[in-house]
Amino acid sequence: MTASALIRATHLVSLMTVFGAGTYLFLIRRLSGPGRVPLLAMSLVALASALLSFVLVTANMTGDGHGTFAWPSLELVATQSFFGRMFLVRIGLLAILVVVASAWRRPAATGLMAAMALASLGLTSHAAANGGRHWLAFAANDAAHLLCAGFWLGGLMVIALMLRQRKPDLVPALRIFSTWGTGAVALLVVAGTLNALAIVQADAARWSFDYMTVLGFKIVLAVIMIALALANRFSVSPAIATGSETARNELAWTVAGELGLGIVVVLLAAFLGMMPPMSMPTPME
Ligand code: HEM
Repeated sequence: MTASALIRATHLVSLMTVFGAGTYLFLIRRLSGPGRVPLLAMSLVALASALLSFVLVTANMTGDGHGTFAWPSLELVATQSFFGRMFLVRIGLLAILVVVASAWRRPAATGLMAAMALASLGLTSHAAANGGRHWLAFAANDAAHLLCAGFWLGGLMVIALMLRQRKPDLVPALRIFSTWGTGAVALLVVAGTLNALAIVQADAARWSFDYMTVLGFKIVLAVIMIALALANRFSVSPAIATGSETARNELAWTVAGELGLGIVVVLLAAFLGMMPPMSMPTPME
C-alpha cells in the first residue's frame, strides 16, 4: 500500500500544482510573474503517475503477485469496472493536458485541462462511494475540495518562485492571492468537513482507528497551514508592502512551511483514499 499511496500522492501534488499555478498565473497575467513555471514537466509527472498508479491498484485488486503487470488483468479492470473506465477517461484528459501544456503554453488553458482531470478524481472518491443516491453531489464536493487545495498549493509555488527571482510585482501578486486564496481556503474547509461527514458514518463503534488517526493528523496539519496563511495575510504581506526586508524573509519561510505541510497533508490524503474508513462488522453482528 505504501508504494501505491506514494504514487497517488505524486499524482495529486503534480496535478494540483499544475491547476493552481496555471490558474494563478492567469489571474496575475498583467503583472511581471515568474520567468518559467514547469507546467509541462508537472503535467508529464501527473500522466506517468496516473498510469503507474493504475497498474499498482490493479495488482492490489487482482491480489495476484505474479499477475501484477499482466496485460489481461489490466485490460479486464480497465474495461469491466467503473474505476477502470474512469481511468481511461482520465488518461485521455491527462494526455490532452500534456499536449496543451507543450503546444499551446497558455496558463489558462493548461489550468482548465488540469481542473477537469483533477475534478474527475471526485467520481471515484470515498465520498462518492458513500454518498448513496447523492453520490454525484459528493463527487462534486470532493472535486471542489481538490480544486481549492490545488489553487492554494499551485499559487504558493508561483509566489515562492517570484520571491526567489525578486520580482518587482510581488506586492500586487500577493494582494490577488489573498483575495482568491481566502475564498478557496474557506471553501476547502467546508468541502473537507462535508467530505468527512459523508465518509465517516454515525456508528462510532465501527470507525476504523487507523483511518480516524490519519484523518486527525491531516486536519491538525491543515489547521497549522491555515494559521500560517492567516499570519501571511494579516501581518507579513502588509509589512512587505512597506518595503521591509525582514518581512520578505519571513514570507519565504512561511511559504516554504505551508508548501511543506501541504505536501504532507496530500500524502496523508493519498493514504486515506486507500484505507477503509469503517471496520467490517464481525460475523456475530
Ligand atoms: C479542515 C480541513 C480539512 C478537512 C476536514 C479535510 C477532510 C478531507 C477528507 C475527509 C478527505 C477524504 C479522504 C478519503 O478519501 O477517505 C479529504 C481528501 C483530500 N484532502 Fe482534505 N481536508 C482538509 C484540508 C485539506 C488541505 C489543507 C489539503 C491540501 C492542501 C487537502 C487535500 C486533500 C486531498 C488531495 C484529498 C484527496 C481527495 C481525493 O482523493 O479525491 N485537504 N480531505
